Amino acid sequence: MSGFSAQWLELREPFDAAARAKAAEASLALWVQNRGGPLRIVDLGAGTGANLRHLAPLLPVAQDWLLVEHDPALIAAGEPRLPTTGPVLARYRRADLVAELESVLAEPVDLVTCSALLDLVSAEWLDRLVRIVQARDLALLAVLTYDGRVALEPARPLDGEVVALVNRHQRCDKGFGPALGPEAGIALARALHGAGDQPLLALSDWNVGPEARAFTAALIEGWSAAACEIAPERAEAIASWRRERLDDVAAGELACRVGHVDLLRLPRGERRTP
Ligand SMILES: C[S@@+](CC[C@H](N)C(=O)[O-])C[C@H]1O[C@@H](n2cnc3c(N)ncnc32)[C@H](O)[C@@H]1O
Repeated sequence: MSGFSAQWLELREPFDAAARAKAAEASLALWVQNRGGPLRIVDLGAGTGANLRHLAPLLPVAQDWLLVEHDPALIAAGEPRLPTTGPVLARYRRADLVAELESVLAEPVDLVTCSALLDLVSAEWLDRLVRIVQARDLALLAVLTYDGRVALEPARPLDGEVVALVNRHQRCDKGFGPALGPEAGIALARALHGAGDQPLLALSDWNVGPEARAFTAALIEGWSAAACEIAPERAEAIASWRRERLDDVAAGELACRVGHVDLLRLPRGERRTP
């Protein structure tokens, strides 16, 4: 289990929503409008359903969502929030994306989407996803893939070292084999380009102001823990960085930018699946 709490997903949801690349959303909505509905959507690693909550109102057709998630606690938190009537229908399927990706995508689907997932996956798993998407000429919207850029304002001397350790932690196995971490967004774009696609790749950075104390404090805690796991011999220095940074947060003096990318692939053909 990868261990994302519903509380953490709720904390990040408004920052994710604000960060998502408008160009990718607008292009997807235009494609959907021209194509018409209904649209069958599979959301990989759906958590409590944040991707559905953000995207569904932007797509001007009837939609049928399948939310794929392996963590029963997140499914339990998300299920009561699913729409049950109207133009948007949604249901969960509990599945492990490592063992069951092909089976999950054997379900009827027009658009595959995922939010904050791809930095967890391995190169091998990403290849499996790309193969399916291209073989079936599916639309793909992969948003909020962490890309390794972190800038803290004001800066402190240890920031660079902590971020470098965090980025090494990002490459550890998150259940899919060695994770692509910060390289995932570019790796996906390259894989699609290699097979002749021209995906749209756009930045979707978190811009976190000094007033967002709870969110920034959670980031500092998460980064400190990850950095200590990678470099236990630096635990003392990291602990003092953590204390200093949490003081900055409490004083309302710490802002940060965290780099992400969004990618959109649209089908090449106008084929309508039955
Ligand atoms: C960073 S969270 C993002 C959740 C949600 N997409 C969002 O944007 O709020 C990553 C999600 O992927 C799920 N996940 C990780 N590994 C998985 C696997 N092997 N099979 C299914 N879901 C997985 C986690 O449980 C978690 O819900």
